[in-house]
Amino acid sequence: MSLHDTLTSEEQLAELDLDTLKQLVGLVEYDDREDPFPVTGWDAAVWVVGNATQTAHFFISAFGMELVAYAGPETGNRDHVAFVLKSGAVRFVIKGGVDPRSTLLDHHRKHGDGIVDIALEVPDVDKCIEHARSVGATVLEEPHDLTDEHGTVRVGAIATYGDTRHTLVDRSRYDGPYLPGYVARTSSFQRREGAPKRLFQALDHIVGNVELGKMDDWVEFYRKVMGFTNMAEFIGDDIATDYSALMSKVVANGNHRVKFPLNEPAVAKKKSQIDEYLEFYDGPGAQHLALATNDILATVDALRAEGVAFLDTPDSYYEDPELRARIGEVRVPVEELQKRGILVDRDEDGYLLQIFTKPLGDRPTVFFELIERHGSLGFGKGNFKALFEAIEREQERRGNF
Ligand SMILES: [Fe+2]
Repeated sequence: MSLHDTLTSEEQLAELDLDTLKQLVGLVEYDDREDPFPVTGWDAAVWVVGNATQTAHFFISAFGMELVAYAGPETGNRDHVAFVLKSGAVRFVIKGGVDPRSTLLDHHRKHGDGIVDIALEVPDVDKCIEHARSVGATVLEEPHDLTDEHGTVRVGAIATYGDTRHTLVDRSRYDGPYLPGYVARTSSFQRREGAPKRLFQALDHIVGNVELGKMDDWVEFYRKVMGFTNMAEFIGDDIATDYSALMSKVVANGNHRVKFPLNEPAVAKKKSQIDEYLEFYDGPGAQHLALATNDILATVDALRAEGVAFLDTPDSYYEDPELRARIGEVRVPVEELQKRGILVDRDEDGYLLQIFTKPLGDRPTVFFELIERHGSLGFGKGNFKALFEAIEREQERRGNF
């Protein structure tokens, strides 16, 4: 399949072209004829939260997303409400329980706010489910059609880490706003004058945190079940300091649109950030979603103005001569990055700019990354050590290390 045939309907609607996507998310050519489980791209990240009405508003007002569809009691869904939001090619579905007996409320009681479903667009749901079953995956939903006046969507679902699932969606015969059962809906929210049209255009990767010793099992799951391949980035000691240690490997689908870094905690003197996640999410789950932007400076300025909180980057990170030597020339002076706390990483293919928000909900679990790629297909592994060590140097100066 040529890349031209693989633009998703979402990307076409968002007026994204291939060159833009290659830069934004590192899209590559690949031949899907031998792929046992062809994946076109992301369909949606489905969230379960404690208050979908307000989370949707937060993503609309602070993150510049657009409300496009809704389901709830008024549309015949008495179990829960669901708000469908878009930003460029990114689709979020925000769900919250309405009926006190809703199973979504049980999910929320256990995990807090989080991602319940990483839905993927596939050209052939039945082929994927059949292959997944044949290699031992848990099929949660057999392939079936959902139909309304806008056409038919074929869906099926398999289980992945923790209570997370992958719904597989073929919407090639459907032109409704999301799925049957949803109605088109817009928000009355008025964007601030001068605000960027969009703060992010595409989803770059979703990171999964899995239990100690289970990372390789999940890498193998994505290889065997979904035909994903290991990306070059392979992290061992790169993300280890005395304080916080983790192991990470990255798998991607054929065209690299869908990338899943998988983390497991590693033994260190102190509790790692992965251990903390596993404790507060009460099991494995999606840790962060990386949102691709073509202007991370404007995006960060807009988000900060809306009160979005980011992880602090110490000044020593930018003043480190090693970092300056490592990153070389980037599109703006380092001072502009420092002002905003934006991190830089460079590899043999190019560089990337990135920044991480603080956790989005009440528990120290799921958060966002903003990423602007300039050729680099990596995930900023150079930054983890540099950032953590910079923090430790600061601690040492204060006599706290
Ligand atoms: Fe990331």
